[in-house]
Amino acid sequence: MLDQETIKVIKSTVPVLKTHGTEITSCFYKNLFTKHPELLNIFNHANQKKGRQQTALANAVYAAAANIDQLEAIIPAVKQIAQKHRSLGVQPEHYPIVGEHLLIAIKEVLGDAATPEIIEAWGKAYGVIADAFIGIESEMYAESEQQQGGWEGFRDFIVDRVEAESSVITSYYLVPADQKPIADFKPGQYISIKFNIMGEEYSHIRQYSLSDASGKPYYRISVKKEGEGAHPGKVSTYLHDHIKQGDILPVSVPAGEFYLDTKRENPVVLLSGGVGLTPMISMLNTLYQAPHEREITFIHAAIDSSHHAFREHVKKAAELDHIHSYVVYEKPSDADKEQAVFHKEGYIDLEWLKELNLDIKADYYFCGPVPFMKAIYKYLGELGVSNSHIHFEFFGPAAELTEPETVQL
Ligand SMILES: Cc1cc2nc3c(=O)[nH]c(=O)nc-3n(C[C@H](O)[C@H](O)[C@H](O)COP(=O)(O)OP(=O)(O)OC[C@H]3O[C@@H](n4cnc5c(N)ncnc54)[C@H](O)[C@@H]3O)c2cc1C
Ligand code: HEM
Repeated sequence: MLDQETIKVIKSTVPVLKTHGTEITSCFYKNLFTKHPELLNIFNHANQKKGRQQTALANAVYAAAANIDQLEAIIPAVKQIAQKHRSLGVQPEHYPIVGEHLLIAIKEVLGDAATPEIIEAWGKAYGVIADAFIGIESEMYAESEQQQGGWEGFRDFIVDRVEAESSVITSYYLVPADQKPIADFKPGQYISIKFNIMGEEYSHIRQYSLSDASGKPYYRISVKKEGEGAHPGKVSTYLHDHIKQGDILPVSVPAGEFYLDTKRENPVVLLSGGVGLTPMISMLNTLYQAPHEREITFIHAAIDSSHHAFREHVKKAAELDHIHSYVVYEKPSDADKEQAVFHKEGYIDLEWLKELNLDIKADYYFCGPVPFMKAIYKYLGELGVSNSHIHFEFFGPAAELTEPETVQL
């Protein structure tokens, strides 16, 4: 437990953190990777370049500092981060390294304002926060190893099948190389995959949501080829251009706090933009085979039909009376218009959502590009959906969902 004096110092430095939070974490990462380049094997280099990871860490540290005397208030946020840490293989011995470099960064950015008293208080507070993470993660490691079909660290999976789902999204069916059972997962969860790309100094780990229901002999992921042009996505481009049937990929046990609560019976609304539909397909497939019929509304936004993955699959599911599918195309082609294969042109907006007469007591799940997510979050609030019914996943480090920007897919 922290003494009152330390708590006072930590709380009084929260405003400073608010101003310098991202600056401190940027400095922290620079020093961390200079001293410990081996950590580049687990951190995403592009997230570093774009600053998203710095912001996520800054927000987490700020939230922890603001709640230092009642850390239980941030347990849900800690759990979500701990899930990602567990799936990446973050270990207790990494925490002192991170702690040391965080303190050095605070000193470097704040200069004389970082008195020995402040540094000592932050050292103690970091210890408490780190212990909370280590405790939760050790339970997660034990659970992922001990569950039926579970395993420790990364396990080799063979690419059993590769199937194009759209012009930019391809599915990979992964089966365990040892042919033993694989762990069940909750619809919405993801796996981490480690890529050792020829010619690359470090390995790259990426998360991919599982895009089919649990209980099959394979895990399926569906991946969009990112950033064709100036900045091709490292791993997604490698997957699309090089990975083929028979290749081996190391995978960690499914993880994540974003999943469908299958015990509930109220309606479900699944909203996705672009490749953000993968966890929704897993949820849809799970509900489709469930014994009781839950009202499902599947709303998907894509650029046009050529970018629209799982189109026929969802259309077929929606032949059932309790499943409703709505398609929004940003820029439908002439053929899309002729064939009337979509319900709305442009972006999802509040007026259109109102017309759908959605049940505000339904459970809402959404995923897509950050601007899409900001817009959906705002609209759901305006429709009167309470936060306890709203669930979302970021396909990258968490971001703030307020202040909507222009929607882009
Ligand atoms: C929980 C979770 C689930 C996910 N599920 C899926 C899924 O089901 N399907 C899926 O396709 N993806 C999913 N992702 C995203 C996935 O993990 C990868 O982030 C994605 O495939 C891009 O990785 P990459 O290595 O190709 O791109 P990276 O090399 O990591 O680059 C990321 C993005 O930044 C851009 N970029 C790179 N360098 C720069 C630069 N210098 N300046 C500006 N932009 C740059 C790239 O074009 C790319 O769009 C998920 C992510 C998370 C966290
Ligand atoms: C108390 C200390 C820590 C805090 C508060 C923290 C916080 C975070 C946060 C907020 C994220 C983003 C999660 C998301 O949005 O999904 C994250 C991701 C991550 N963390 Fe930590 N973390 C801590 C310690 C560590 C340690 C010790 C390591 C290992 C060296 C580590 C490695 C990572 C990695 C590799 C990612 C994913 C980054 C990416 O893919 O870009 N973290 N952490």
